[in-house]
Amino acid sequence: MLIDQTLLPERYEVIALGRVASVCEAIYMLRVRGAPALGVAGAYGVLVAVEEEWGGDGYFFDSDVERDDAAETRFDSFQRNASVEALRRRLSEMSEKIASTRPTAVNLGWAVARMRRVFESPWSNCSSMLTALQREADSILEEDIAMCRQLGEHGSTLLDDHVGVITHCNTGGLATGGFGTALGVVFAAAASGKAIHVFADETRPLLQGARLTAWECIQRDIPVTVLVDGAAASLLASGQVHCAIVGADRIAANGDTANKIGTLGLALLAKHHEIPFYVAAPTSTIDSGLATGDQIPIEQRPAMEVLQMGGRDIAPSGANAYNPAFDVTSHDLISAIVTETGVHRPPYQF
Ligand code: MRU
Repeated sequence: MLIDQTLLPERYEVIALGRVASVCEAIYMLRVRGAPALGVAGAYGVLVAVEEEWGGDGYFFDSDVERDDAAETRFDSFQRNASVEALRRRLSEMSEKIASTRPTAVNLGWAVARMRRVFESPWSNCSSMLTALQREADSILEEDIAMCRQLGEHGSTLLDDHVGVITHCNTGGLATGGFGTALGVVFAAAASGKAIHVFADETRPLLQGARLTAWECIQRDIPVTVLVDGAAASLLASGQVHCAIVGADRIAANGDTANKIGTLGLALLAKHHEIPFYVAAPTSTIDSGLATGDQIPIEQRPAMEVLQMGGRDIAPSGANAYNPAFDVTSHDLISAIVTETGVHRPPYQF
């Protein structure tokens, strides 16, 4: 079950995903999005693979589901017929599919790899494997919430009372297990009584800033102003913004950070206007296997996301589109990286 983020802010709708194909579709279409939320979705996606093959309708994992005769028959058949080896083979294939759906956010591959370690462990029967898988997915979710709460506390020390904060894309509860990273820092500061005004880049082309960040701020009574991405330069020149804070999809060992396309532009603007530029992310977003950001795979998205809006052409047919979903901000443009372990200053060592 997840909130379909493509429908916000017009509609709040929770959707149930019973097939791996729908999990992959939801990830690719950004019904669920944001690096930590992708990790959580990937982990539960592995459970969906089991359901699809042997359970059905949340039989194995949803305690609220009524166990009718048909479900009982399926479960009997699972117990009698499914071998640990067959289950492992199925999970391996499906995990591969889920993890490769979006390549940039390291959390997706990281969470699926954690699930893989569980199903590749030696198990004497399928039921114990399933119980362990469920426990691992729950831990990934709970750990994310705890990490985000902690990084929110650390990050809130960077924000003074009565400040303007610019952010890009959406990094709140929607993008995580439920608390938020960069926006979580704002939420923690606001909860401690500080007056923060959020300036949300609309975040072309899919408008995560306008649709989701503004929605989350409004839900929490935090004042928010939406601007088109191109207005960030003049906003910073106006002096209303005291710092920029963004999330991350993958952070290399030297601190280079991949985040939503447009982040690099904002970091350059922050440097020009001499305001701090902060990144906030749980350590699950750090890929210490990559020395620098040059090695981060950048997802390229379909041209129509740029050439159309609301189903209407906004460019003549025949025009090409440049549509990378992310860019990489060099570590030397980042004033600090906030994780659940604290506020890290350059040179970055995690
Ligand atoms: O394409 P998206 O919407 O998944 O991109 C999300 C971002 O770039 C976020 O800033 C990042 O994942 C951090 S979310 C806490």
